[in-house]
Amino acid sequence: MTGMPPSSFVPQKYSGPSPEEVLAMRSAHLHPAIFHYYKKPIMIVQGHGQWLFDHTGRRFLDGIGGIVTVSVGHCHPEVTAAAQRQQETIVHTTTLYLNPEVALFAKELAAKMPGDLKVCYFVNSGSEANDLAITMARAATSNYDIIALRNAYHGGSPGAMALTSHHTWKFNVPHAFGVQHAQMPDLYRGPFGADDPEAGAKYARDVKELVQFGTSGRIAAFIAESIQGVGGAVVLPDGYLRHAYEHARAHGGLCIADEVQSGFGRTGTHFWGFETQGVIPDIVTMAKGIGNGCPLAAVVTTPAIAKSIANRIHFNTFGGNPVSCAQGRAVLRVIEREKLQANCLARGAQLKEGFDRLARTHQIIGQVRGLGLMLGVELVKDRVTKEPASAECAAVFEACKDLGLLIGKGGLFGNTLRIKPPMCITAADAEFMIATLDRALAGL
Ligand SMILES: Cc1ncc(COP(=O)(O)O)c(C=O)c1O
Repeated sequence: MTGMPPSSFVPQKYSGPSPEEVLAMRSAHLHPAIFHYYKKPIMIVQGHGQWLFDHTGRRFLDGIGGIVTVSVGHCHPEVTAAAQRQQETIVHTTTLYLNPEVALFAKELAAKMPGDLKVCYFVNSGSEANDLAITMARAATSNYDIIALRNAYHGGSPGAMALTSHHTWKFNVPHAFGVQHAQMPDLYRGPFGADDPEAGAKYARDVKELVQFGTSGRIAAFIAESIQGVGGAVVLPDGYLRHAYEHARAHGGLCIADEVQSGFGRTGTHFWGFETQGVIPDIVTMAKGIGNGCPLAAVVTTPAIAKSIANRIHFNTFGGNPVSCAQGRAVLRVIEREKLQANCLARGAQLKEGFDRLARTHQIIGQVRGLGLMLGVELVKDRVTKEPASAECAAVFEACKDLGLLIGKGGLFGNTLRIKPPMCITAADAEFMIATLDRALAGL
């Protein structure tokens, strides 16, 4: 593909079922609520670093990392070796017996947390992590109500679906009740813009009002993604979490940060997204990038809050699985050794500067936003009315794929391009992304 940085990696020859056969099997035997990207779906059979390969050996630059999950690069040799070693030693024990991997991982992960966030619970997915966080908050406070945010995505289990605030992801069935959604703190579309230095405090006021008008006045928790991911890389205004946490705590609530997408150094300046807001939550949930693609997630909290669920047994068959923990430990080592947080900062700045440049020539770009390698480019038909350019966004997304770049798409109207590649991309990769987006936009 034009301008794609070279790679000496040679993928294996693929000899399995064809994409048509795979599609037919999916249609017949996988549930119909799953969907695939692209009019003609692509079949990815191998990954290496920031590269993905289809069944013909065609190479793509991965600009979305399996939805922000491949953190240190596909099949990173150290992560693969750690998992393989553990596979050959013991795969499954449960926490009923002592095994060093889960204890070591908990210690190493806790060392990455600020304040008194020192106790880890391991589960398998972000949804489970959020469910457990809510259970803990309710047990610890003896309160029931939860305040989440509009435009949030917290998962697909009945509990997490209740926290989620996007009709696209909510089935028309009863969700866990007791959740209300405060105003989306969006500087681009909301009533308070980036030119208002008090915007963070003003948006946070809705948390207080929701507690006062919609609950008994006592809540169990306030939960927010540190950057709204599925919602289109919406960055919270400065000071927002500080004020929202104050309101929540004043009404008995614990503060939960969902770091499923924004954690592990992706924001570039900090290891955790909430740190960009200068706050320390009471409970942090994490998944996706924690394991570079294996089913691994965690809830981290303080010893005092953790005690609240100690009066019952909490058991999770695969939580703390030795293979997943070995993989998670290797991910932490690689992030550190390869200085991937610093790379997120540098590459994120390069991409943002490049996308801002594109915004000067492509009127369809309404806003470029994000932190580090968690970026969004929102497309609008008109910069004044901000009418979402959803069809155009789909066309650009499709054109990028044809040009060799795979990215994501999000936001309530599906009009925001999401760029969240593995954290190991190079300066040449970032240039290719900018040039490819330029070409795709020019083709509209
Ligand atoms: C911010 C956030 N929280 C939670 C989840 C749910 O994670 P999982 O799909 O692993 O259940 C997601 C998934 O996209 C997410 O983006």
